[in-house]
Amino acid sequence: MSTNAKETALRRQKQLLSHLKGESAETDPKEQIKQVAVYGAGIMGGGIAQVVAQAGYKVTLWDIQQSDIDRGMQTIRNSLERLSKKQEIDPTSVLRRISTTTSQIQAAHAADLVIEAIVEDLKTKQQLLERLDKVAKPSCIFATNTSSLLVRDIAKTVSGARKARTVALHFFNPVAIMQLVEIANADGALLDLLKAFVRDIGKVPVVCRDTPGFIVNRLLVPYNNEARQMVERGDASIEDVDTAMRLGAGYPMGPFELMDMTGIDVGYHIMKGWYEGASGLQGDPRFKPSKEVEQMIKKNHLGHKTGRGYYTYTK
Ligand SMILES: NC(=O)c1ccc[n+]([C@@H]2O[C@H](COP(=O)([O-])OP(=O)(O)OC[C@H]3O[C@@H](n4cnc5c(N)ncnc54)[C@H](O)[C@@H]3O)[C@@H](O)[C@H]2O)c1
Repeated sequence: MSTNAKETALRRQKQLLSHLKGESAETDPKEQIKQVAVYGAGIMGGGIAQVVAQAGYKVTLWDIQQSDIDRGMQTIRNSLERLSKKQEIDPTSVLRRISTTTSQIQAAHAADLVIEAIVEDLKTKQQLLERLDKVAKPSCIFATNTSSLLVRDIAKTVSGARKARTVALHFFNPVAIMQLVEIANADGALLDLLKAFVRDIGKVPVVCRDTPGFIVNRLLVPYNNEARQMVERGDASIEDVDTAMRLGAGYPMGPFELMDMTGIDVGYHIMKGWYEGASGLQGDPRFKPSKEVEQMIKKNHLGHKTGRGYYTYTK
């Protein structure tokens, strides 16, 4: 049996099983989503293209330059190679489902679902969706992977009909490992379809209103900020705060270890955007950008990626 036929048979079996168990039959996402276009072949876009292709969908991966795509595809190949040692994955058939292009139009043309994972900049995201809106099928769903922006702001440049089909599908880093996907700005049949899609790619969906940072970042950003202020006031050391949260709260890592992993600059820009932007959080003292963090960014102390943040790292 070919890999595709095996996957279809497995899907039918799952549907039949849930029917026999009396569970309400879940929408089969593959009936409505056959082709996915992922915009941005960076850390997130590459990971998203990979997990979607692993689940049997055809994916087109777009980025500005061929070199961005080549780097993204190499990361996908390495990740599949690692995973194939632990799980039953055939890297060749997954890679066969991913095509690449530097043509924005070509990627959007046949897509049933567009997922944008380009830079976290409102204007850049708006410009991309405005262009894609003109060439994508009316039924095509637009999804943003934004960490901090509002979906309705990103969707300002698309037509009225598309606004109702513009949602957030917020993945977590590293995408191949992290199980969660936050869904925002969707309801009714569209929400059912997206939940089924998220489950079909092996992830767990949670649903949230279109609010800054959705669930995870909205809780994490002020938590990280409070930890930073605690150390700046001299209440406790970086190491003791991290140890306390690992051993006392059962978190897998402390806030400073986490900020170093996600990037000091990433957290800073999210807070600055909320504090100065029009997200409804402007002027909120919990998100006031810190002078100390600005100094760290000036010195390129951004965490793991630059070898130094709150801690020092050797490669
Ligand atoms: N990194 C994370 O941990 C994380 C987690 C969840 C969500 N996100 C979100 O995912 C999105 C992508 O983040 P990432 O970490 O993959 O970024 P990244 O820098 O790794 O990748 C971004 C890609 O966008 C491309 N791009 C396309 N148009 C661009 C333009 N006009 N200007 C600059 N670059 C352009 C770049 O070439 C690059 O390959 C952002 O919205 C980010 O907030 C990131």
